[in-house]
Amino acid sequence: METGKLKRTLSGEINESCTDSEFNLKGWVMHYRDHGGLIFIDLRDYSGIIQIVFDETVSNKSFNTAKKIKNEYVISVTGRVRIRPEGTENENLETGKIEIEAKALEILNECEILPFQIEEESDTNELLRLKYRYLDLRRKKMKDNLIFRSKFNFLTREFLNKNGFFDIETPFLTKSTPEGSRDFLVPSRLNNGTFYALPQSPQLFKQILMVSGFEKYYQIVRCFRDEDLRADRQPEFTQLDMEMSFIEQKDIMSLTEEMFAFIFDKLLNIKLDLPIKIMDYDDAMEIYGSDKPDTRFAMKLNTVSDIFKNSSLNVFQDCLSKKGAIKAICFKNGADLLSRKDIDELLTVVKDFGGKGLAWTKVASDKEKLKSDKSSDNNTENICIHQKCKLEGGIAKFITEEEQDILLDRLDAENGDIIFYQADSKKIADMVLGRLRLYLAKKYNLIPDGKFNFLWVINFPLFEYSEEEKKIVAIHHPFTAPNVEDLELLDANPLIAKSQSYDLVLNGEEIGGGSIRIHKPELQAKIFEILSIKQEDARLKFGFLLDALSFGAPPHGGIAFGIDRVLMLLRNEDSIRDVIAFPKTQKAQCPLSDAPSEVKFEQLRELGIKIIEKDKHI
Ligand code: AMO
Repeated sequence: METGKLKRTLSGEINESCTDSEFNLKGWVMHYRDHGGLIFIDLRDYSGIIQIVFDETVSNKSFNTAKKIKNEYVISVTGRVRIRPEGTENENLETGKIEIEAKALEILNECEILPFQIEEESDTNELLRLKYRYLDLRRKKMKDNLIFRSKFNFLTREFLNKNGFFDIETPFLTKSTPEGSRDFLVPSRLNNGTFYALPQSPQLFKQILMVSGFEKYYQIVRCFRDEDLRADRQPEFTQLDMEMSFIEQKDIMSLTEEMFAFIFDKLLNIKLDLPIKIMDYDDAMEIYGSDKPDTRFAMKLNTVSDIFKNSSLNVFQDCLSKKGAIKAICFKNGADLLSRKDIDELLTVVKDFGGKGLAWTKVASDKEKLKSDKSSDNNTENICIHQKCKLEGGIAKFITEEEQDILLDRLDAENGDIIFYQADSKKIADMVLGRLRLYLAKKYNLIPDGKFNFLWVINFPLFEYSEEEKKIVAIHHPFTAPNVEDLELLDANPLIAKSQSYDLVLNGEEIGGGSIRIHKPELQAKIFEILSIKQEDARLKFGFLLDALSFGAPPHGGIAFGIDRVLMLLRNEDSIRDVIAFPKTQKAQCPLSDAPSEVKFEQLRELGIKIIEKDKHI
């Protein structure tokens, strides 16, 4: 508070009960309307918006100063709160019933012509928004998102501090960790020719903290991964990273659930339905064709290979003879929605997903007839609705009546539905139909609004075979512990061994993942052997962790959540860029600061670095 002056008040603190009191407000001019002897301004500060009236007859001096004002000028106004005259209230404003009758005005700063209007509705190009991010962040939606983010972080810390966790920072200039993405490298001036890597996550350091005996660690921490960007990926993003000692998978899962329940309650006033449902990785792939199923809508995948074992359709025969799988989804009431053109377009979509083609059939859509048939029958309970169905279109002519009956039963398909089929290796058929399911749901608005469907996916395979690298690779990271009952499989058939790992999925988005770690050197050596990582290589890459683990490492495990993704979902945004103050573009550039940029020759010389043309042989 400045002596002799009124303390500044926020617009959000003023309401009808303040009538006739005098306040000082400071903020930005959002709208300006000159009505002759009266000037109206909407003043915006971070708490809200309030109308100010400059009346020539009340204060001629401030009225004359107000005439100079333009949008986004920064002003300081002192005035009296009054109820707006009847008929001039603004229902869209929280302060819409009142206004400030200005007595004094000071222009604190002017504003250049704006590159875009700060109006909520204006549909500005994202590149321009990012270039002038400070203006973009003046918008209510963006401001609310960032304030929400701040509260989310605060509540997370409150919960974890109450539960005995320590917030410990780990280095940003570090050695590359084996997380699987490409590292961002930082050249060392003091050690020319060597590089730090920015951490993809604090994985190794948090494990080392367990060896040090901290037992419960957390950090809200920036992570860096040089990967191709998407709406839910940024090169630098924020994790809520946690690690605990003497803990089991189920304890980590229930602690996580309590934490989200606490945050949802405090932040959204939503009571989460606990415990969160759990699904096996194998089931997720089989039923949803994804390891992060969106369970807000059905349209589940069904295996129908057995139904078509004698099919006359060549594609089906071929697929089964190659030990592939035929899978199908039923789009309820889709037959009338999708024209022939729409279906043809889906073929292109499916090819983009990696499918070879798209077979389909409609279930005859004469619903009116069916309804009247049903109601004219006295015993409707016993009527099998499928008897009235007839497949039509697409591959219908290759499907026998017998096949049709089992198919309709299995898919619970009724008149008016449309069925899509994929015949391929099981992996591809699942993946393609899983993606098609999501595509159709988004395109035809099948996803209900306002739902938060959490799901644990567990029992991930420990390894997978990488066609690219022609060897077995770890699905999570090489420190993930195998399921105890699968230890014997490590020798016999490691590819079917499952791990003690768990992903948390929200509305079809992977928001977190973690595992119980290996803490015994012998088991770790075995895993390296399966991954064809030679002892020397292991030492070179993460010898410091292996050393630490050999000095009395407690059993431990942890999890990390992608905070940007969680916030994107809670704020109902389509991209994590809208919950990050200063995000990068799809090309990993910052239009505001122009990073990345070239540097001076002297800077490179100090680092011992010479730029060569990309892809040119040295
Ligand atoms: P993981 O690699 O699964 O696990 O990352 C954890 C979570 O971080 C989020 N995430 C991202 N968010 C935005 N942009 C990205 N580029 C990005 N990459 C990942 C996801 C993901 O679920 N150290 C392990 C955790 C552990 O085992 O404890 C790890 O980092 O929401």
